[in-house]
Amino acid sequence: MPVWPPESGGDDGSGDDAAAGDREVRVAWIGPGGAEVVETLGIDLFTVLEREDARGAAGEIVSVPVLAEGRGAASADGEVDVERIVLVGMGDASPAAHRKAGAALARALRGTSRVASTVTSASDEAGLRAFVDGLLLSTFQLDTYRSTPAKPKTLPLDTLVLAGTGEAVHTAVDTAVVMARAAWFARELVHTPPNVKDPEWLAERAREIGRAGSVDVHVRDEKKLEAEGFGGIVAVGMGSARPPRLIALRYEPEEIGPDAPHVVLVGKGVTFDTGGLSLKPRESMVTMKTDMTGAAVVMGVMSALPALGVRARVTGLVAAAENMPGASAQRPSDVIRQYDGTTVEVLNTDAEGRLMLADGIAYAVAELEPSAVVDVATLTGAATVGLGRTHAALYGTDDELADALIAAGAATGERMWRMPLVDDYRQALESTVADVAHLDTQRMSGASIAAALFLERFAAGVPWAHLDMAGPGRAEKDKDELVKGGTAFGVRALLTWLTPPPQDPE
Ligand code: BES
Ligand code: MN
Ligand code: ZN
Repeated sequence: MPVWPPESGGDDGSGDDAAAGDREVRVAWIGPGGAEVVETLGIDLFTVLEREDARGAAGEIVSVPVLAEGRGAASADGEVDVERIVLVGMGDASPAAHRKAGAALARALRGTSRVASTVTSASDEAGLRAFVDGLLLSTFQLDTYRSTPAKPKTLPLDTLVLAGTGEAVHTAVDTAVVMARAAWFARELVHTPPNVKDPEWLAERAREIGRAGSVDVHVRDEKKLEAEGFGGIVAVGMGSARPPRLIALRYEPEEIGPDAPHVVLVGKGVTFDTGGLSLKPRESMVTMKTDMTGAAVVMGVMSALPALGVRARVTGLVAAAENMPGASAQRPSDVIRQYDGTTVEVLNTDAEGRLMLADGIAYAVAELEPSAVVDVATLTGAATVGLGRTHAALYGTDDELADALIAAGAATGERMWRMPLVDDYRQALESTVADVAHLDTQRMSGASIAAALFLERFAAGVPWAHLDMAGPGRAEKDKDELVKGGTAFGVRALLTWLTPPPQDPE
Protein backbone atom coordinates (compact mmCIF):
# COMPACT_ATOMS: atom_id res chain seq x y z
CA MET A 1 0.00 0.00 0.00
CA PRO A 2 1.44 3.39 -0.92
CA VAL A 3 2.60 5.54 1.93
CA TRP A 4 2.33 9.29 1.79
CA PRO A 5 4.41 11.35 1.99
CA PRO A 6 7.18 8.97 0.97
CA GLU A 7 10.15 8.46 3.29
CA SER A 8 10.49 11.77 5.17
CA GLY A 9 7.15 11.85 6.98
CA GLY A 10 7.64 15.28 8.51
CA ASP A 11 8.83 17.01 5.38
CA ASP A 12 6.42 19.77 4.45
CA GLY A 13 8.15 20.38 1.17
CA SER A 14 9.77 23.59 2.29
CA GLY A 15 13.07 21.86 2.81
CA ASP A 16 13.18 23.37 6.28
CA ASP A 17 13.94 20.24 8.24
CA ALA A 18 14.81 22.13 11.41
CA ALA A 19 11.21 23.19 11.78
CA ALA A 20 9.90 19.66 11.39
CA GLY A 21 10.30 18.93 15.07
CA ASP A 22 7.76 21.61 15.99
CA ARG A 23 5.23 20.45 13.51
CA GLU A 24 2.67 17.80 13.39
CA VAL A 25 4.34 14.92 11.60
CA ARG A 26 2.37 13.92 8.59
CA VAL A 27 2.28 10.26 7.94
CA ALA A 28 -0.58 9.03 5.91
CA TRP A 29 -1.67 6.11 3.89
CA ILE A 30 -3.94 6.14 0.94
CA GLY A 31 -6.34 3.32 1.53
CA PRO A 32 -7.22 0.41 -0.71
CA GLY A 33 -7.93 1.50 -4.24
CA GLY A 34 -5.57 4.45 -4.07
CA ALA A 35 -2.85 2.65 -5.97
CA GLU A 36 -5.31 1.65 -8.68
CA VAL A 37 -6.47 5.25 -9.07
CA VAL A 38 -2.92 6.42 -9.46
CA GLU A 39 -2.24 3.72 -11.99
CA THR A 40 -5.47 3.82 -14.01
CA LEU A 41 -6.12 7.55 -14.08
CA GLY A 42 -2.54 8.66 -13.88
CA ILE A 43 -3.36 11.09 -11.10
CA ASP A 44 -0.68 11.42 -8.48
CA LEU A 45 -2.82 11.48 -5.37
CA PHE A 46 0.21 11.85 -3.13
CA THR A 47 1.06 15.15 -4.69
CA VAL A 48 -2.56 16.24 -4.62
CA LEU A 49 -2.74 15.55 -0.89
CA GLU A 50 0.49 17.36 -0.28
CA ARG A 51 -0.60 20.41 -2.29
CA GLU A 52 -3.87 20.49 -0.38
CA ASP A 53 -1.94 20.28 2.86
CA ALA A 54 -4.10 17.34 3.83
CA ARG A 55 -3.61 15.95 7.31
CA GLY A 56 -5.79 12.90 7.11
CA ALA A 57 -7.91 14.09 10.03
CA ALA A 58 -11.14 12.16 10.38
CA GLY A 59 -13.64 13.58 7.93
CA GLU A 60 -11.17 15.79 6.08
CA ILE A 61 -12.21 15.95 2.44
CA VAL A 62 -10.04 16.47 -0.61
CA SER A 63 -12.01 16.53 -3.81
CA VAL A 64 -10.21 16.03 -7.11
CA PRO A 65 -12.07 16.67 -10.36
CA VAL A 66 -11.07 14.33 -13.16
CA LEU A 67 -10.79 16.14 -16.46
CA ALA A 68 -12.35 14.78 -19.61
CA GLU A 69 -9.04 13.58 -21.11
CA GLY A 70 -8.21 11.49 -18.11
CA ARG A 71 -11.69 10.06 -18.13
CA GLY A 72 -11.40 9.15 -21.78
CA ALA A 73 -8.16 7.34 -21.19
CA ALA A 74 -9.48 5.59 -18.14
CA SER A 75 -12.68 4.46 -19.74
CA ALA A 76 -10.91 3.13 -22.83
CA ASP A 77 -11.44 -0.38 -21.51
CA GLY A 78 -15.09 0.49 -20.96
CA GLU A 79 -14.98 -0.03 -17.24
CA VAL A 80 -14.16 3.21 -15.49
CA ASP A 81 -15.71 6.61 -15.96
CA VAL A 82 -14.72 8.78 -13.06
CA GLU A 83 -15.81 12.40 -12.76
CA ARG A 84 -14.37 13.11 -9.40
CA ILE A 85 -12.21 11.45 -6.81
CA VAL A 86 -13.08 12.27 -3.24
CA LEU A 87 -10.49 11.42 -0.63
CA VAL A 88 -11.62 11.31 2.96
CA GLY A 89 -9.38 11.39 6.01
CA MET A 90 -9.75 8.40 8.31
CA GLY A 91 -8.03 9.90 11.35
CA ASP A 92 -6.97 7.22 13.81
CA ALA A 93 -9.24 4.69 12.09
CA SER A 94 -11.30 4.24 15.27
CA PRO A 95 -15.04 3.62 14.92
CA ALA A 96 -15.67 7.27 15.85
CA ALA A 97 -13.28 8.37 13.09
CA HIS A 98 -15.07 6.09 10.65
CA ARG A 99 -18.40 7.67 11.64
CA LYS A 100 -17.01 11.16 11.04
CA ALA A 101 -15.47 10.08 7.73
CA GLY A 102 -18.71 8.49 6.53
CA ALA A 103 -20.65 11.62 7.44
CA ALA A 104 -18.18 13.94 5.72
CA LEU A 105 -18.15 11.79 2.61
CA ALA A 106 -21.94 11.66 2.34
CA ARG A 107 -22.17 15.44 2.75
CA ALA A 108 -19.45 15.99 0.16
CA LEU A 109 -21.25 13.72 -2.31
CA ARG A 110 -24.68 15.19 -1.68
CA GLY A 111 -26.27 16.10 -4.99
CA THR A 112 -23.02 15.89 -6.93
CA SER A 113 -23.47 12.36 -8.08
CA ARG A 114 -26.29 9.91 -7.97
CA VAL A 115 -24.00 6.93 -7.99
CA ALA A 116 -20.67 6.65 -6.33
CA SER A 117 -18.42 3.86 -5.44
CA THR A 118 -15.95 3.72 -2.68
CA VAL A 119 -13.52 1.43 -1.11
CA THR A 120 -13.07 1.55 2.58
CA SER A 121 -10.13 0.58 4.65
CA ALA A 122 -12.51 -0.70 7.29
CA SER A 123 -11.78 -4.32 7.77
CA ASP A 124 -13.23 -4.40 11.25
CA GLU A 125 -16.93 -4.74 11.82
CA ALA A 126 -17.17 -1.83 14.25
CA GLY A 127 -15.46 0.55 11.84
CA LEU A 128 -17.65 -0.48 8.94
CA ARG A 129 -20.82 -0.09 10.93
CA ALA A 130 -19.79 3.35 12.11
CA PHE A 131 -18.85 4.35 8.57
CA VAL A 132 -22.30 3.33 7.31
CA ASP A 133 -23.99 5.20 10.20
CA GLY A 134 -22.19 8.35 9.18
CA LEU A 135 -22.90 7.83 5.50
CA LEU A 136 -26.63 7.29 5.94
CA LEU A 137 -27.58 9.58 8.80
CA SER A 138 -25.59 12.72 8.04
CA THR A 139 -27.82 13.73 5.13
CA PHE A 140 -31.14 13.18 6.86
CA GLN A 141 -33.84 15.56 5.76
CA LEU A 142 -37.61 15.64 5.81
CA ASP A 143 -39.01 17.19 2.64
CA THR A 144 -42.62 16.13 3.02
CA TYR A 145 -43.76 19.57 4.06
CA ARG A 146 -42.13 21.60 1.30
CA SER A 147 -44.43 22.76 -1.47
CA THR A 148 -41.69 22.36 -4.08
CA PRO A 149 -39.50 19.29 -4.25
CA ALA A 150 -36.01 19.59 -2.80
CA LYS A 151 -33.35 20.69 -5.28
CA PRO A 152 -31.34 17.77 -6.66
CA LYS A 153 -28.23 19.46 -5.28
CA THR A 154 -29.41 18.87 -1.73
CA LEU A 155 -30.52 15.29 -2.18
CA PRO A 156 -28.61 12.57 -0.39
CA LEU A 157 -26.73 10.40 -2.80
CA ASP A 158 -28.87 7.42 -3.55
CA THR A 159 -26.42 4.67 -4.40
CA LEU A 160 -23.11 3.99 -2.84
CA VAL A 161 -21.12 0.91 -3.62
CA LEU A 162 -18.93 -0.28 -0.78
CA ALA A 163 -16.17 -2.51 -2.01
CA GLY A 164 -15.26 -5.30 0.32
CA THR A 165 -15.89 -8.98 0.49
CA GLY A 166 -16.65 -11.68 2.98
CA GLU A 167 -19.55 -12.66 5.18
CA ALA A 168 -18.41 -10.44 8.04
CA VAL A 169 -18.39 -7.35 5.85
CA HIS A 170 -21.86 -8.04 4.48
CA THR A 171 -23.35 -8.74 7.89
CA ALA A 172 -21.84 -5.60 9.35
CA VAL A 173 -23.16 -3.46 6.53
CA ASP A 174 -26.63 -5.04 6.58
CA THR A 175 -26.87 -4.54 10.34
CA ALA A 176 -25.78 -0.94 10.08
CA VAL A 177 -28.26 -0.21 7.31
CA VAL A 178 -31.17 -1.65 9.30
CA MET A 179 -30.21 0.36 12.37
CA ALA A 180 -29.66 3.58 10.44
CA ARG A 181 -33.03 3.14 8.74
CA ALA A 182 -34.66 2.79 12.17
CA ALA A 183 -32.95 5.99 13.32
CA TRP A 184 -34.00 7.75 10.11
CA PHE A 185 -37.62 6.70 10.69
CA ALA A 186 -37.44 7.94 14.29
CA ARG A 187 -36.03 11.27 13.11
CA GLU A 188 -38.91 11.64 10.65
CA LEU A 189 -41.33 11.27 13.55
CA VAL A 190 -39.41 13.84 15.61
CA HIS A 191 -39.17 16.37 12.78
CA THR A 192 -42.86 16.07 11.89
CA PRO A 193 -44.65 19.29 12.90
CA PRO A 194 -46.84 19.11 16.00
CA ASN A 195 -50.03 20.18 14.23
CA VAL A 196 -49.69 16.93 12.30
CA LYS A 197 -48.38 14.50 14.92
CA ASP A 198 -50.96 14.25 17.65
CA PRO A 199 -51.12 11.08 19.79
CA GLU A 200 -53.48 9.33 17.37
CA TRP A 201 -51.09 10.10 14.50
CA LEU A 202 -48.29 8.39 16.45
CA ALA A 203 -50.60 5.42 17.02
CA GLU A 204 -51.22 5.22 13.28
CA ARG A 205 -47.45 5.16 12.60
CA ALA A 206 -47.20 2.32 15.11
CA ARG A 207 -50.00 0.41 13.36
CA GLU A 208 -47.98 0.72 10.17
CA ILE A 209 -45.06 -0.98 11.91
CA GLY A 210 -47.51 -3.70 12.89
CA ARG A 211 -48.73 -4.10 9.32
CA ALA A 212 -45.15 -4.58 8.13
CA GLY A 213 -45.23 -7.83 10.11
CA SER A 214 -43.77 -9.53 13.18
CA VAL A 215 -44.79 -6.80 15.64
CA ASP A 216 -48.24 -6.73 17.26
CA VAL A 217 -49.65 -3.31 17.95
CA HIS A 218 -52.35 -2.48 20.45
CA VAL A 219 -53.60 1.04 21.11
CA ARG A 220 -55.56 2.24 24.15
CA ASP A 221 -57.64 5.36 23.60
CA GLU A 222 -58.54 7.92 26.26
CA LYS A 223 -61.61 6.02 27.44
CA LYS A 224 -59.65 2.82 27.96
CA LEU A 225 -56.85 4.71 29.68
CA GLU A 226 -59.35 6.25 32.07
CA ALA A 227 -61.14 2.96 32.69
CA GLU A 228 -57.92 1.03 33.32
CA GLY A 229 -56.41 3.57 35.67
CA PHE A 230 -53.66 5.22 33.66
CA GLY A 231 -54.12 8.40 35.68
CA GLY A 232 -50.84 10.04 34.67
CA ILE A 233 -51.34 9.76 30.93
CA VAL A 234 -54.96 10.90 31.28
CA ALA A 235 -54.01 13.90 33.44
CA VAL A 236 -51.36 15.13 31.02
CA GLY A 237 -53.63 14.61 28.01
CA MET A 238 -56.75 16.29 29.30
CA GLY A 239 -55.67 19.86 28.54
CA SER A 240 -55.64 19.07 24.84
CA ALA A 241 -58.47 18.62 22.36
CA ARG A 242 -56.40 15.78 20.90
CA PRO A 243 -56.70 12.90 23.39
CA PRO A 244 -53.87 10.72 24.70
CA ARG A 245 -52.97 7.16 23.70
CA LEU A 246 -50.97 4.29 25.10
CA ILE A 247 -49.43 2.37 22.26
CA ALA A 248 -48.07 -1.11 22.90
CA LEU A 249 -45.83 -2.76 20.31
CA ARG A 250 -44.99 -6.38 20.99
CA TYR A 251 -42.23 -8.41 19.37
CA GLU A 252 -42.05 -12.08 20.20
CA PRO A 253 -40.03 -14.28 17.89
CA GLU A 254 -41.36 -17.80 17.55
CA GLU A 255 -38.24 -19.80 18.07
CA ILE A 256 -37.45 -18.54 21.58
CA GLY A 257 -38.57 -20.30 24.72
CA PRO A 258 -40.77 -18.94 27.49
CA ASP A 259 -37.68 -18.25 29.59
CA ALA A 260 -36.21 -15.80 27.09
CA PRO A 261 -35.69 -12.32 28.50
CA HIS A 262 -38.54 -9.86 28.17
CA VAL A 263 -37.36 -6.30 27.77
CA VAL A 264 -39.89 -3.50 28.08
CA LEU A 265 -39.03 -0.13 26.59
CA VAL A 266 -41.12 2.86 27.67
CA GLY A 267 -40.99 6.05 25.61
CA LYS A 268 -42.15 9.54 26.50
CA GLY A 269 -44.37 10.70 23.68
CA VAL A 270 -45.35 14.29 24.39
CA THR A 271 -46.23 15.43 20.89
CA PHE A 272 -46.00 19.04 22.01
CA ASP A 273 -45.04 20.34 25.44
CA THR A 274 -46.40 23.80 26.17
CA GLY A 275 -45.87 23.13 29.87
CA GLY A 276 -49.64 23.04 30.37
CA LEU A 277 -50.98 25.63 32.84
CA SER A 278 -47.39 25.93 34.16
CA LEU A 279 -46.80 27.45 30.75
CA LYS A 280 -43.30 27.53 29.30
CA PRO A 281 -41.77 30.85 28.27
CA ARG A 282 -42.23 31.32 24.52
CA GLU A 283 -38.60 30.71 23.54
CA SER A 284 -38.32 27.37 25.28
CA MET A 285 -41.57 26.16 23.75
CA VAL A 286 -40.39 26.37 20.15
CA THR A 287 -38.41 23.12 20.14
CA MET A 288 -41.01 21.14 22.06
CA LYS A 289 -42.28 19.14 19.11
CA THR A 290 -39.22 17.02 19.88
CA ASP A 291 -40.64 16.05 23.28
CA MET A 292 -41.78 12.73 21.80
CA THR A 293 -38.22 11.68 21.01
CA GLY A 294 -38.37 8.85 23.54
CA ALA A 295 -41.48 7.54 21.80
CA ALA A 296 -39.85 7.88 18.39
CA VAL A 297 -36.80 6.00 19.63
CA VAL A 298 -38.92 3.16 20.99
CA MET A 299 -40.89 2.97 17.72
CA GLY A 300 -37.69 3.04 15.67
CA VAL A 301 -36.25 0.22 17.76
CA MET A 302 -39.42 -1.88 17.50
CA SER A 303 -39.53 -1.42 13.72
CA ALA A 304 -36.05 -2.92 13.32
CA LEU A 305 -36.23 -5.97 15.62
CA PRO A 306 -37.58 -8.43 13.04
CA ALA A 307 -34.91 -7.59 10.45
CA LEU A 308 -32.19 -7.97 13.05
CA GLY A 309 -33.59 -11.28 14.24
CA VAL A 310 -33.42 -10.22 17.86
CA ARG A 311 -33.82 -13.25 20.11
CA ALA A 312 -35.71 -11.76 23.02
CA ARG A 313 -39.24 -10.69 23.73
CA VAL A 314 -39.43 -6.92 23.50
CA THR A 315 -42.42 -4.75 24.28
CA GLY A 316 -42.42 -1.07 23.39
CA LEU A 317 -44.81 1.12 25.35
CA VAL A 318 -45.38 4.57 23.95
CA ALA A 319 -47.16 6.97 26.27
CA ALA A 320 -48.50 9.68 23.99
CA ALA A 321 -50.18 12.94 24.96
CA GLU A 322 -50.14 16.60 24.09
CA ASN A 323 -49.40 18.85 27.07
CA MET A 324 -51.72 21.81 26.51
CA PRO A 325 -53.29 24.41 28.84
CA GLY A 326 -56.86 23.82 27.64
CA ALA A 327 -59.97 24.47 29.72
CA SER A 328 -59.90 20.97 31.18
CA ALA A 329 -56.16 20.93 31.80
CA GLN A 330 -54.79 19.59 35.06
CA ARG A 331 -53.94 22.26 37.65
CA PRO A 332 -50.79 22.67 39.68
CA SER A 333 -51.73 21.07 43.05
CA ASP A 334 -54.07 18.44 41.55
CA VAL A 335 -53.70 14.97 43.01
CA ILE A 336 -53.81 12.15 40.50
CA ARG A 337 -53.67 8.35 40.82
CA GLN A 338 -51.06 6.45 38.82
CA TYR A 339 -51.57 2.95 37.36
CA ASP A 340 -50.19 1.22 40.46
CA GLY A 341 -52.45 3.22 42.78
CA THR A 342 -49.83 5.68 43.99
CA THR A 343 -51.33 9.12 44.51
CA VAL A 344 -49.23 12.00 43.20
CA GLU A 345 -49.41 15.70 43.90
CA VAL A 346 -48.80 17.49 40.62
CA LEU A 347 -47.12 20.77 41.49
CA ASN A 348 -45.89 21.82 38.08
CA THR A 349 -47.77 20.69 34.99
CA ASP A 350 -44.56 21.15 32.99
CA ALA A 351 -43.07 18.11 34.76
CA GLU A 352 -45.50 15.97 32.76
CA GLY A 353 -43.29 13.31 31.25
CA ARG A 354 -42.65 11.45 34.49
CA LEU A 355 -46.40 11.14 35.13
CA MET A 356 -46.79 9.35 31.81
CA LEU A 357 -43.69 7.20 32.20
CA ALA A 358 -44.74 6.22 35.72
CA ASP A 359 -47.94 4.68 34.33
CA GLY A 360 -46.00 2.89 31.63
CA ILE A 361 -43.39 1.49 34.03
CA ALA A 362 -46.01 0.47 36.59
CA TYR A 363 -48.10 -1.23 33.91
CA ALA A 364 -45.04 -3.13 32.64
CA VAL A 365 -44.17 -4.33 36.13
CA ALA A 366 -47.76 -5.33 36.97
CA GLU A 367 -48.76 -7.01 33.72
CA LEU A 368 -45.80 -7.93 31.53
CA GLU A 369 -43.35 -9.86 33.73
CA PRO A 370 -40.38 -7.91 32.41
CA SER A 371 -36.79 -8.99 33.01
CA ALA A 372 -35.77 -5.36 32.48
CA VAL A 373 -37.54 -2.05 31.97
CA VAL A 374 -35.80 0.81 30.17
CA ASP A 375 -37.48 4.16 29.80
CA VAL A 376 -36.34 6.76 27.30
CA ALA A 377 -37.32 10.39 27.60
CA THR A 378 -36.51 14.03 26.97
CA LEU A 379 -37.26 14.49 30.62
CA THR A 380 -35.42 17.41 32.17
CA GLY A 381 -33.64 20.55 31.07
CA ALA A 382 -31.41 19.88 34.07
CA ALA A 383 -29.87 16.85 32.33
CA THR A 384 -28.74 19.20 29.56
CA VAL A 385 -27.40 21.71 32.06
CA GLY A 386 -25.34 18.98 33.68
CA LEU A 387 -24.07 17.05 30.67
CA GLY A 388 -24.59 19.23 27.63
CA ARG A 389 -25.60 17.72 24.32
CA THR A 390 -23.06 14.93 23.94
CA HIS A 391 -24.13 12.63 26.78
CA ALA A 392 -27.45 11.32 28.00
CA ALA A 393 -28.01 10.93 31.73
CA LEU A 394 -28.40 7.26 32.58
CA TYR A 395 -29.90 6.07 35.85
CA GLY A 396 -30.42 2.52 36.92
CA THR A 397 -30.98 0.08 39.71
CA ASP A 398 -28.99 -2.71 38.08
CA ASP A 399 -25.27 -2.30 37.37
CA GLU A 400 -25.16 -5.01 34.72
CA LEU A 401 -28.01 -3.40 32.79
CA ALA A 402 -26.54 0.08 33.12
CA ASP A 403 -23.07 -1.09 32.05
CA ALA A 404 -24.49 -2.92 29.04
CA LEU A 405 -26.38 0.16 27.88
CA ILE A 406 -23.35 2.39 28.35
CA ALA A 407 -21.20 -0.06 26.39
CA ALA A 408 -23.74 -0.20 23.56
CA GLY A 409 -23.88 3.60 23.49
CA ALA A 410 -20.10 3.83 23.37
CA ALA A 411 -20.13 1.52 20.34
CA THR A 412 -22.70 3.56 18.42
CA GLY A 413 -21.47 7.00 19.43
CA GLU A 414 -24.55 7.61 21.58
CA ARG A 415 -22.79 8.37 24.81
CA MET A 416 -24.40 7.88 28.21
CA TRP A 417 -23.18 8.93 31.60
CA ARG A 418 -24.24 7.10 34.73
CA MET A 419 -25.87 9.35 37.29
CA PRO A 420 -26.57 8.59 40.95
CA LEU A 421 -29.96 7.85 42.52
CA VAL A 422 -29.04 9.86 45.59
CA ASP A 423 -30.74 8.43 48.63
CA ASP A 424 -30.58 11.69 50.58
CA TYR A 425 -32.69 13.43 47.95
CA ARG A 426 -35.62 11.05 48.23
CA GLN A 427 -37.30 12.97 51.01
CA ALA A 428 -37.52 16.01 48.76
CA LEU A 429 -40.38 14.26 46.94
CA GLU A 430 -42.57 14.34 50.03
CA SER A 431 -46.06 15.73 49.57
CA THR A 432 -48.32 17.25 52.19
CA VAL A 433 -51.45 15.69 50.68
CA ALA A 434 -50.51 12.69 48.51
CA ASP A 435 -48.24 9.63 48.66
CA VAL A 436 -45.57 11.54 46.80
CA ALA A 437 -44.90 14.76 44.91
CA HIS A 438 -43.63 14.42 41.35
CA LEU A 439 -40.77 16.86 41.84
CA ASP A 440 -38.43 18.33 44.40
CA THR A 441 -40.43 20.33 46.93
CA GLN A 442 -37.39 21.40 48.94
CA ARG A 443 -35.21 23.33 46.52
CA MET A 444 -32.48 20.78 46.77
CA SER A 445 -31.56 21.16 43.04
CA GLY A 446 -30.67 18.13 40.96
CA ALA A 447 -33.91 18.12 38.97
CA SER A 448 -32.83 15.29 36.68
CA ILE A 449 -32.04 13.12 39.71
CA ALA A 450 -35.34 14.03 41.38
CA ALA A 451 -37.21 12.91 38.27
CA ALA A 452 -35.29 9.62 38.24
CA LEU A 453 -36.02 9.04 41.94
CA PHE A 454 -39.70 9.62 41.26
CA LEU A 455 -39.69 7.03 38.45
CA GLU A 456 -37.65 4.50 40.38
CA ARG A 457 -40.45 3.67 42.79
CA PHE A 458 -42.71 2.53 39.94
CA ALA A 459 -40.15 -0.05 38.82
CA ALA A 460 -40.74 -1.78 42.17
CA GLY A 461 -37.42 -3.59 42.23
CA VAL A 462 -37.43 -4.86 38.64
CA PRO A 463 -34.08 -4.12 36.92
CA TRP A 464 -34.70 -0.69 35.51
CA ALA A 465 -32.80 1.97 33.62
CA HIS A 466 -33.83 5.49 32.78
CA LEU A 467 -32.32 7.45 29.92
CA ASP A 468 -32.85 11.20 30.22
CA MET A 469 -31.76 12.41 26.80
CA ALA A 470 -33.12 15.93 26.75
CA GLY A 471 -29.60 17.10 25.77
CA PRO A 472 -28.45 14.73 23.01
CA GLY A 473 -32.02 14.35 21.73
CA ARG A 474 -31.53 17.59 19.85
CA ALA A 475 -28.62 18.92 17.83
CA GLU A 476 -28.15 22.67 17.48
CA LYS A 477 -26.27 22.26 14.21
CA ASP A 478 -25.17 19.65 11.71
CA LYS A 479 -22.25 17.67 13.07
CA ASP A 480 -20.98 14.29 11.92
CA GLU A 481 -23.94 11.89 11.73
CA LEU A 482 -26.27 14.42 13.36
CA VAL A 483 -28.33 17.06 11.63
CA LYS A 484 -29.84 20.12 13.23
CA GLY A 485 -32.98 19.17 15.14
CA GLY A 486 -34.09 15.79 16.45
CA THR A 487 -31.33 13.18 16.58
CA ALA A 488 -33.33 10.11 17.61
CA PHE A 489 -30.58 9.50 20.14
CA GLY A 490 -30.40 5.95 21.40
CA VAL A 491 -32.03 3.97 18.58
CA ARG A 492 -28.76 2.35 17.51
CA ALA A 493 -27.50 1.88 21.07
CA LEU A 494 -30.68 0.11 22.16
CA LEU A 495 -30.69 -2.06 19.04
CA THR A 496 -27.03 -2.91 19.56
CA TRP A 497 -27.78 -3.83 23.16
CA LEU A 498 -30.70 -6.03 22.08
CA THR A 499 -28.74 -7.70 19.27
CA PRO A 500 -26.18 -10.00 20.80
CA PRO A 501 -23.05 -10.55 18.74
CA PRO A 502 -23.21 -13.68 16.60
CA GLN A 503 -22.23 -16.84 18.46
CA ASP A 504 -19.32 -18.95 17.34
CA PRO A 505 -20.83 -22.02 15.72
CA GLU A 506 -19.05 -24.73 17.77
N1 BES B 1 -39.81 18.35 28.01
C1 BES B 1 -39.28 19.04 29.13
C2 BES B 1 -37.77 18.81 29.29
C3 BES B 1 -36.92 19.41 28.22
C4 BES B 1 -36.44 20.70 28.37
C5 BES B 1 -36.56 18.67 27.11
C6 BES B 1 -35.63 21.23 27.37
C7 BES B 1 -35.76 19.20 26.14
C8 BES B 1 -35.29 20.48 26.27
C9 BES B 1 -39.95 18.57 30.41
O1 BES B 1 -41.27 18.18 30.26
C10 BES B 1 -39.92 19.72 31.35
O2 BES B 1 -40.51 20.71 31.04
N2 BES B 1 -39.21 19.54 32.46
C11 BES B 1 -39.10 20.57 33.43
C12 BES B 1 -39.19 19.93 34.78
C13 BES B 1 -39.33 20.90 35.92
C14 BES B 1 -40.66 21.61 35.82
C15 BES B 1 -39.21 20.14 37.21
C16 BES B 1 -37.74 21.24 33.25
O3 BES B 1 -36.77 20.56 32.92
O4 BES B 1 -37.68 22.45 33.42
MN1 MN C 1 -42.64 19.74 30.35
ZN1 ZN D 1 -41.83 17.47 28.42
